[in-house]
Amino acid sequence: THISWDESAAEKGGFKHFMLKEIHEVPEAIESALVGRFDEDLKPNLKELDEFNLEKVKRILLVACGTSYHAGLVFKYFAEKYLDVDVLIDVASEFRYRPIRIDDNTLTIAISQSGETADTLESVRAVKKAGGKVIAITNVVGSTITRESDITLFMNAGPEIGVAASKTYVNQLIILYTLGLYMMKKRGIWSEEHNIISKQLNESPKIVRKIINNEKINQLADYYKNYHHFMYIGRGINTATAMEGALKLKEISYINAVAYPAGELKHGPIALLDPTFPVFAIAPKDSLYEKMRSNIEESRARNARILSIATEGDEEIKKISHDVIYIPEAHEDLYPLIIAPVIQLFAYYIADKRGYDPDKPRNLAKSVTVE
Ligand code: G6P
Repeated sequence: THISWDESAAEKGGFKHFMLKEIHEVPEAIESALVGRFDEDLKPNLKELDEFNLEKVKRILLVACGTSYHAGLVFKYFAEKYLDVDVLIDVASEFRYRPIRIDDNTLTIAISQSGETADTLESVRAVKKAGGKVIAITNVVGSTITRESDITLFMNAGPEIGVAASKTYVNQLIILYTLGLYMMKKRGIWSEEHNIISKQLNESPKIVRKIINNEKINQLADYYKNYHHFMYIGRGINTATAMEGALKLKEISYINAVAYPAGELKHGPIALLDPTFPVFAIAPKDSLYEKMRSNIEESRARNARILSIATEGDEEIKKISHDVIYIPEAHEDLYPLIIAPVIQLFAYYIADKRGYDPDKPRNLAKSVTVE
């Protein structure tokens, strides 16, 4: 759909930009994504997927572009941790040109906010042609992907006008966590830990509401807005968070941001670090925390400025970082969800303070229908 850009401020609900408004809509967007997908006992229920033999799936192929690809990456870590499946993930513009091997135990998940991204649609067609089954995850009812796939899980985020994905990324994560949990339930590997994840997932709107009102993010953006480079690092499931954080910053503030799994720093990228090249470290208290901490120390030893995201109460990270943004404690698998609005707001404020319009980044389109 075409959007005219002289819409009144009223349409932005009093916010300066759609992107800021849409980040503030995250809590209610999450609620809409969860509705009807959990039973009273907080166990996930996606009965519409039962025709896909979720009990038997051995391989999952994930295909998406841009931000949607990063949501897929979170799913890969989450699903592989608990399920006896291999999850292969690729960006659609590569996936579609590679050999596609499908057997009875292969399931494909295609993620596209718009449901119109050309490369993702062609990937879906290629999988179908090879005899595979496709679950689509999209935000747009009636979009092409819904017709080409076997079934669609709608993310129910409501319309998103800002070109760079914000609330739709969060809702992709909600749907993917729910799907992962549903597979765990179906395969009889549900444990107390999954009760906790499920409960926290259902409480996430409340948690996110606190995070988006953290003024510290705005203040830090003011300090960091004039740097020309950023190194985002994370480990495990938050490798995806680092990648998404860097993408957001590139897209709307035009600052060169690179992302690495923190353990790769030593294999080359650490050579870039100096006082002009800050490190944005995704460092919540999780099972890779100690490793992450030593990566921060290594970066600090190169005199890089360190901005960390850490779990509330973590004093150790404070000692080795120049700045810290605290987030509430959560189950470690859910940190990508909790941190998403933080990296989005950071990029948003930087773009705005640099004088750019975050809603309409140069050279980018909301949905890319060319190959
Ligand atoms: C464009 C947008 C990105 C988006 C990507 C994939 O490049 O600018 O924000 O992540 O397309 O879009 P999709 O609609 O397939 O999720």
